[in-house]
Amino acid sequence: MDKKLIESTSSHFKAKFGTLPESLFLSPGRINIIGEHIDYNDGFVLPAAIDKYICFAITSLPSDDCVLVAKDLNEEYRFSLTDDLKPVSLMWANFILGGLHQLKELGHALKGFQLVFSSTIPIGAGLSSSAALECGVIYAMNNLHDLQISKKDIALMGQKSSHTFVGVNCGIMDQFASVFGKKNKAIKLDCTTLEHSYFDADLVDFAFVLLDSNVKHEHLTSGYNVRREEVDQGLAIIKKNYPEVSSFRNSTLQQVDALQQELGENLYKRCHFVVSEIKRVSLAARAIQDQNYKLLGELMLETHKGLSKDYEVSCPELDYLVDEAIKQKGVIGSRMMGGGFGGCTINLVKKENIKGLISTLSDSYFKEFKVDLKAYQVEISEGTHQVK
Ligand code: GLA
Repeated sequence: MDKKLIESTSSHFKAKFGTLPESLFLSPGRINIIGEHIDYNDGFVLPAAIDKYICFAITSLPSDDCVLVAKDLNEEYRFSLTDDLKPVSLMWANFILGGLHQLKELGHALKGFQLVFSSTIPIGAGLSSSAALECGVIYAMNNLHDLQISKKDIALMGQKSSHTFVGVNCGIMDQFASVFGKKNKAIKLDCTTLEHSYFDADLVDFAFVLLDSNVKHEHLTSGYNVRREEVDQGLAIIKKNYPEVSSFRNSTLQQVDALQQELGENLYKRCHFVVSEIKRVSLAARAIQDQNYKLLGELMLETHKGLSKDYEVSCPELDYLVDEAIKQKGVIGSRMMGGGFGGCTINLVKKENIKGLISTLSDSYFKEFKVDLKAYQVEISEGTHQVK
């Protein structure tokens, strides 16, 4: 719950439309402990929803008219449900229109609505504000119209909005984590079947701290879609040579190494990362279960190295934050998190050393890049829900 966010979104709604909203929903951002860039590569991921949210204040209308108000951006977009919904130039609106378009295609009878939304999830920080927006709107529509859409389908529809209306060919991790989050639980998600289980995210003396490089990325223009094409090409070459391989999950480092020449430098590095990361996640899941946080931290560092050198989705600021964080007292793991090209690092830190880490790195980061570092100590929270 975020009372301040709920109140400010509600009162903005009242100021705009004259009455309080009929319903309120919260849709969270996410962290990911480990398993990066493998949700679209047949891997497992270990994300969790966090206490940073988009709040939706919404009232149905008797007509087909819709008004979307992005409070934080002071922008609004109006349309009718009878319009042929297509991507528009206002990017944030596409995250919403993509879901409505699908609901219409599925034949659901929707009513028009007034919507105000506001967020505490920093944009472009790798905390999945996009997924929270996509899924939050579908979740709200599902609730308001009693459409009986399952949580799994809400997540999948959110992902499809990214593919069709935003142009980012993302995996399922962000949407799934936002919808399926549970308080104090991380999710172990099999991205091929969407089978999942929850595990305790309380790490005893340790906590996850996010350090935001303040380098903003947008996956539409970053190398995200290019990485997807590269791994598709890489996997096709592996399959051609090893017909028994059906996905990255059952291919081995030996196979990738044997194909180094044929793959060429770039595809080799991409495939090497993917196969290694898939293995690392199963080791990390076991390490968490055994409370072996030292091993978890080491695996996080290996992941960062792979993301930086082989998958090449890091940037100098993120590399700096990881290199410096790991030298600090009480820090046993650190890596860039999410799609990359900017955003946050996730750090595994002894609770008593969190303050020291943040203050030392804030100073040195500013000296190095003349950019303010932001730090977030997040709590693991409930997935998308209605505020009663
Ligand atoms: C972005 C995408 C996810 C996932 C991560 C990297 O957040 O939306 O699907 O691929 O990058 O793990």
